[in-house]
Amino acid sequence: MHGFSTRAIRAATRAPHVDQQPNSVPIYQAATFSAVDAEELGEVASGRRPGYAYARIANPTDSALEAAIAEIHEADDAEVFASGMAAIHAAIVSLVSAGDRIVCTRAVYGSTRSLLLNVFGRLGVRVDFVDATDLAAVEAALTVAPTRILYVETIANPTIVVADIEALARLAHRHGAALVVDNTFASAYLCRPLALGADLVAESATKFMSGHSDVLGGVVVGDRDRIREVRALQVDTGATLAPFAAFLILRGLTTLALRMDRHTASASALATWLEGRPGVERVYHPSLPSHPQADVCRRQLRSAGGMLAFELAGGRVAGRAFIDALTIPERTASLGSVHTIVAHPPSTTHRQLSDSELAETGIAPGLLRCSVGLEDVADLREDFATALATALAAATATTGEATGEAAGRPVLATSRP
Ligand SMILES: Cc1ncc(COP(=O)(O)O)c(C=O)c1O
Repeated sequence: MHGFSTRAIRAATRAPHVDQQPNSVPIYQAATFSAVDAEELGEVASGRRPGYAYARIANPTDSALEAAIAEIHEADDAEVFASGMAAIHAAIVSLVSAGDRIVCTRAVYGSTRSLLLNVFGRLGVRVDFVDATDLAAVEAALTVAPTRILYVETIANPTIVVADIEALARLAHRHGAALVVDNTFASAYLCRPLALGADLVAESATKFMSGHSDVLGGVVVGDRDRIREVRALQVDTGATLAPFAAFLILRGLTTLALRMDRHTASASALATWLEGRPGVERVYHPSLPSHPQADVCRRQLRSAGGMLAFELAGGRVAGRAFIDALTIPERTASLGSVHTIVAHPPSTTHRQLSDSELAETGIAPGLLRCSVGLEDVADLREDFATALATALAAATATTGEATGEAAGRPVLATSRP
């Protein structure tokens, strides 16, 4: 008989064999998987035979998530990562080498911009930015020099610019570039960029896909050959998604459609209500006829989604006062959650930029970005009305001039929900 420790270790790590299917995917909390012999271990670890050896290379819970995401994107394959940025990094590294060039939309998430300039730029990749809603400008940018990647976001952070993926894919392919699309704001329920011609799709699973602000994750989706490259990179760079995170994201996927319908309905209602309110300069939501890409949204997205942005006439002061006056939304950085989350980029993520630098990125000093959650929309509208009145008062106190009156509209009207 073996000693106590030997028996304890062997007894306590023997996984049960289950004949019946569990109705959720088990969390395979294991870093290592045993093979029957050295031959099998070598074959599995090197990818010549399907199976599991070491969890950085593959884990069954992650594999289940990859299969699920590939299926809802109607794609060949997917590879999951520890965060959205890790996924975006891998998607780009799988395509570029030193000396290559990337053309990126100007309306892009700040960390992606920083990744492109500070990481890829340092490694000898040239990055140029372009207004991706101006197809002539994109064509001109692609004509100037050979380009490996045209990079856009389906719905851009934070300005809610919608990319015409079909047209951009045609342009990219005509010039020998791959179209890479960050589909985080839309999710697979609203848009499947691969079906519109994109070559690789990256998504942060931290946002709408998981939906509850309780997990970080990312994914790259594409055809078999491209994902083989991405998977090889994931093995070498090691930004592996933890199995518990994969479990939470799988659970989120089961309610994605329901949540997106509710996010969209509430965001559309709030956007319609906000448009024309005193002190509100502009509202950006693709459901509004005034949205510059409303027609692209109708053609390429199932619906307009849960992200909206609006500009307050009172600039940074009004934006900050609006955020501080809110009682229901969370004052935090993320999006795509059950909670409504309102951010004022000029006083948070972009506070170091001057007004003119902000203008270059398309962000007005009074811009607020709102991820509309699943709360009752009447409650949100009431809270927004109070916050608008506070923002107007703050702007008036600072400038000595009522912004609403300056715009020829009655200031007190904002107190009505
Ligand atoms: C559009 C977009 N892409 C990617 C990311 C990065 O995702 P993660 O925070 O999961 O790395 C974010 C994060 O906010 C985002 O808004």
